[in-house]
Amino acid sequence: TTDAGGGLRTPIVAVLGHVDHGKTSLLDKVRGSAVTSGEAGAITQHIGATAVPLATISDIAGRLVDPDDFDLPGLLFIDTPGHHSFSTLRSRGGALADIAVLVVDVNDGFQPQTLEAIDILKRTQTPFIVAANKVDTTPGWNPQPDTPIQQSLEAQSDRAEQTLNEKLYEIIGELSDNDFSADMYWRVQNFRGNIGVVPVSAETGEGVPDLLAVLMGLSQRYMKEEMSIDTTGPGAGTVLEVKEERGFGTTLDVVLYDGSIRTDDTVVVGAKNDPIVTEVRALLQPQPLAEIRTEKRFEKVDEVSAAAGVKIAAPDLDDALAGAPVRVVRDRSEAEVIEEVREEL
Ligand code: GTP
Ligand code: MG
Repeated sequence: TTDAGGGLRTPIVAVLGHVDHGKTSLLDKVRGSAVTSGEAGAITQHIGATAVPLATISDIAGRLVDPDDFDLPGLLFIDTPGHHSFSTLRSRGGALADIAVLVVDVNDGFQPQTLEAIDILKRTQTPFIVAANKVDTTPGWNPQPDTPIQQSLEAQSDRAEQTLNEKLYEIIGELSDNDFSADMYWRVQNFRGNIGVVPVSAETGEGVPDLLAVLMGLSQRYMKEEMSIDTTGPGAGTVLEVKEERGFGTTLDVVLYDGSIRTDDTVVVGAKNDPIVTEVRALLQPQPLAEIRTEKRFEKVDEVSAAAGVKIAAPDLDDALAGAPVRVVRDRSEAEVIEEVREEL
């Protein structure tokens, strides 16, 4: 996540779906599993994002992820709200994403914001998988905490398995109605042409190993080229939010998807009128989870590399726009970078 040098950057995974279908719970489960697996601190809580390193993914996924098979550094998850009024945040998440997880409650099936998310993913041509969540609510379910889903299915009664299958096939049918051919993920050969459905429970952790394994596999197989960047080059990112922060004034919550950003870098930020040119005073990341409620919420860092979430404190940010581009100038011409930002706005 913050490892310097060339090589491969962390893929950005947007988590999208209808309100209450379990997006945040799934990420909480991943964070919680990482802590209890003894990898405490291995998960960095970024601004607006959660970075999960490969070693942690492999700890959670067990035999489903052999770290030797991968050279991507991990995954950076962006949570999005499902309430209908937050459609700009969903679009922004979708636009930033290299891949996405569409979370669907198995009991509720497709709902308005599920369809909206599908439209965003179509428009941005973002490959995605479906997390069919809350399988533990199936009548007669026999929970198998944190196990791969096929192992858990073997422990279910025929009746419970059949009830769940009916719901899963409804979801597959809805995907097909929306022009996506889909199947249970273990039957999918080509994840570019077919959507893999992963039955999961954010409550019990069943299927979470599978979800992480499929995301890693999909990224490694189809996204290696796009992930090959100079992670020390001049950074590029998107403003998620413009926020007043005590002691820092107006700050920007940014997701960096290319290069790096350092304290004292000159940055150009899209704004209401002319782009803002300013100098980074501080780069802030949240304190590790255990300390998140203490007074000192942020930790200053000297540099972050893509992909990462970071809060930028700098003078003159009042007119900055959420959704706008942020570019590090470094050894390039300032005028050229300003032009780049203007064109992208
Ligand atoms: P928004 O951010 O508001 O769009 O919702 P969300 O998609 O982040 O849903 P959230 O994770 O907040 O979960 C909504 C409710 O569903 C909470 O009460 C969770 O405890 C519950 N829930 C989420 N996942 C599961 C699951 O796998 N099983 C069960 N039984 N409950 C779940
Ligand atoms: Mg949520």
